[in-house]
Amino acid sequence: MLAYEKLLLENKAWAKEQNETDPTFFKRLAAQQAPEFLWIGCSDSRVPADKITGTEPGEIFVHRNIANLVVNTDINLLSVLQYAVEVLKVKHIIVCGHYGCGGVKAAMTQHHFGIINHWLKNIKDIYRLHREEVDALPTEAERVDKLIELNVKEQVFNLAKTSIIQSAWKNEQRPHLHGWVYGLSDGIIKPVYEMAAGSHIDPLYEYDNL
Ligand code: CO
Repeated sequence: MLAYEKLLLENKAWAKEQNETDPTFFKRLAAQQAPEFLWIGCSDSRVPADKITGTEPGEIFVHRNIANLVVNTDINLLSVLQYAVEVLKVKHIIVCGHYGCGGVKAAMTQHHFGIINHWLKNIKDIYRLHREEVDALPTEAERVDKLIELNVKEQVFNLAKTSIIQSAWKNEQRPHLHGWVYGLSDGIIKPVYEMAAGSHIDPLYEYDNL
């Protein structure tokens, strides 16, 4: 059997089992989705949003990219964010990074990786802003982990700076923003930062006509 054929077989088995445990499962989900959470995570294959949080189909709206970045010119991320906030009306947005993130590691080197440099530059900027704090740590692994935590925090800030979030905070007192980091070696998620709906950031980002 070819490797990809196994995926299709597994899919059939999963659908059958799902149907047996809950005969209304597919009918219900096909009719609508009402997730409470938007997950912005790393594309890394070892960090599957639903598996590590024990959530079922329909519970989490997911966006993933390399190193879980919120970039204000990324039309893909912004479209997901707008839909999740304005249509699905999610109550929580979780930015979840992970220790040992290859994207963050790469951004800390001087190696040229091609087009991905443009993406990783966002992480280099965070490293530059926190260089003293990060470089004070004794080992490379600790420095990488620290930047991974700082990156998650910065992405929560980037969410808060968008007019999508500012507007929802002002008019609907949601969503709450969370910065988490998942541990590849123990499977545990560590919350590292939180921003309640309506939190104040620099007034420069608080638009007066939303
Ligand atoms: Co990663």
